[in-house]
Amino acid sequence: MKQTMDVSSADFEYLRQLVHKHSGIVLSADKTYLAELHLQPIVESAGFSSIADLITYLRNQPFNNLHVQTIEALVTTETSFFRDGYPFEALKQYVLPELVKQRKIERSLNIWCAACSNGQEPYSIAILIQEHFPVLVNWSLRLIASDFSTKVLARARQGNYNQLEINRGLPKNIRDKYFKRLDNNWQINQEIRQMIDFRQFNLVETWPYLPKFDVIFLRNVLIYFDIVTKKALLKKVKQQLRPDGYLFLGSGETTINLDESFKLVTFDKHICYQLHNP
Ligand SMILES: C[S@@+](CC[C@H](N)C(=O)[O-])C[C@H]1O[C@@H](n2cnc3c(N)ncnc32)[C@H](O)[C@@H]1O
Repeated sequence: MKQTMDVSSADFEYLRQLVHKHSGIVLSADKTYLAELHLQPIVESAGFSSIADLITYLRNQPFNNLHVQTIEALVTTETSFFRDGYPFEALKQYVLPELVKQRKIERSLNIWCAACSNGQEPYSIAILIQEHFPVLVNWSLRLIASDFSTKVLARARQGNYNQLEINRGLPKNIRDKYFKRLDNNWQINQEIRQMIDFRQFNLVETWPYLPKFDVIFLRNVLIYFDIVTKKALLKKVKQQLRPDGYLFLGSGETTINLDESFKLVTFDKHICYQLHNP
């Protein structure tokens, strides 16, 4: 019989600190249900008798794969194709046309999707480019997508989505053009998959070498960090952005009161960020 799934407040506090230390993410105290919901599969697959047992193990062992699995299970990976719509409209109508003009001599464009989760965001960008900017096919186009979670990256690399995920944000004509049916799932085509260089690294640790980017999508991750981490991350992002490049944040995120080097640029219903005085 399954043991009770309740997580004590002391155990939850341990989990909060574990997640914060390794990802920068602050789990709010009302998120114990997250632990109860998402840790049970680990409890079962690793052969513990309860969440409390798993946490006792984690507390007493050096950092290992079970700590990683626990952290990854507690982090929100919510995403969807063309999430929120407007950022992708801004990219299509204004940002990419402008950059294509600016870069027509060097014919090179670098885009980074930081915190890419299961891949819907970078695939949305790749599809948008295929659909509307065929000129870029002959450019040096680098589309890098990163996340710290091996679990989401494995799924992102596969490019295999269930019907529910496909139904969220993907127009039917785009689905039929770029995906093929595979049993009950949909597999993104090879051409789109090959456009993306998936990398694993942690935004709050030292980054590997990265080129300077024309566009950075840093969407729906800043919101989970504390102010000190947000500021430190924006400082690093700023160094990675070309002087006339564009930063895209999630709809509930902003650089205001965090980093004054950015200015707001509004495109219809979407706000992007650029550096002051390029
Ligand atoms: C809510 S999802 C957002 C996905 C996508 N950007 C979007 O807006 O739909 C947040 C993602 O950030 C990743 N993440 C959280 N902390 C991270 C860190 N310190 N370094 C890299 N990725 C991180 C999570 O694994 C998760 O996939």
